[in-house]
Amino acid sequence: MTTNKEREINLFKYKNNDSDFFIKRCSLKDINAVIEVNERELPEDYPFFFYKSILDNFPESFLVAQNKNGKIIAYIMWRVEKAPSIDSLRYVNKGHLVSIAVFKKYRRKGIATTLLNNSMSAIKKSEILKYVLEVRVSNYTAIKLYETLNFKIECIKKKYYRDGENAYFMILNVGNS
Ligand code: COA
Repeated sequence: MTTNKEREINLFKYKNNDSDFFIKRCSLKDINAVIEVNERELPEDYPFFFYKSILDNFPESFLVAQNKNGKIIAYIMWRVEKAPSIDSLRYVNKGHLVSIAVFKKYRRKGIATTLLNNSMSAIKKSEILKYVLEVRVSNYTAIKLYETLNFKIECIKKKYYRDGENAYFMILNVGNS
């Protein structure tokens, strides 16, 4: 459970020459607005309960961006998964990007970068050793974004998407395993 005070602490303001936006943790009442961004900007849609379960389980890395009027214009969600360590029998945590999208009108203002940086540092508390994600091989914009944060293409996942498109599996290692 997050208190109102904690939520306030998690509200950040970002300003550059032509934009002014706020980042905060998602709350239950924000989910419908997140769904609106998702359905407008991405072909992969999810039911309400899916967002709610991400919010219940990984609230610290489910962030939204709001414009000056409080409208939700972008979101990011992650889940933390256990993965076998390369060099021992123990399991380690990895952060798996579930989804990120920014309304077209607000793109190229650093919102996705800000969401990624803040959410990745928020889940670092879970002792994350790597961050992973899938991205459509045709999604040049998103691939470029992840490369700016030092994600590297690890392999191709064939026919990963429902429409048959391949995905790049991208990784950012932050630990020793
Ligand atoms: N062309 C080339 N590079 C681009 C780009 C574009 N259209 N958009 C972003 N980038 C790269 C640039 O290197 C950019 O830095 P710069 O503006 O200083 O050159 C960097 O990414 C950071 O961009 P940023 O402004 O933080 O990204 P954004 O807020 O515009 O959001 C997406 C990027 C991908 C989230 C956004 O385009 C989007 O919502 N796309 C649809 C949903 C989607 O594809 N999600 C990812 C699914 S895996």
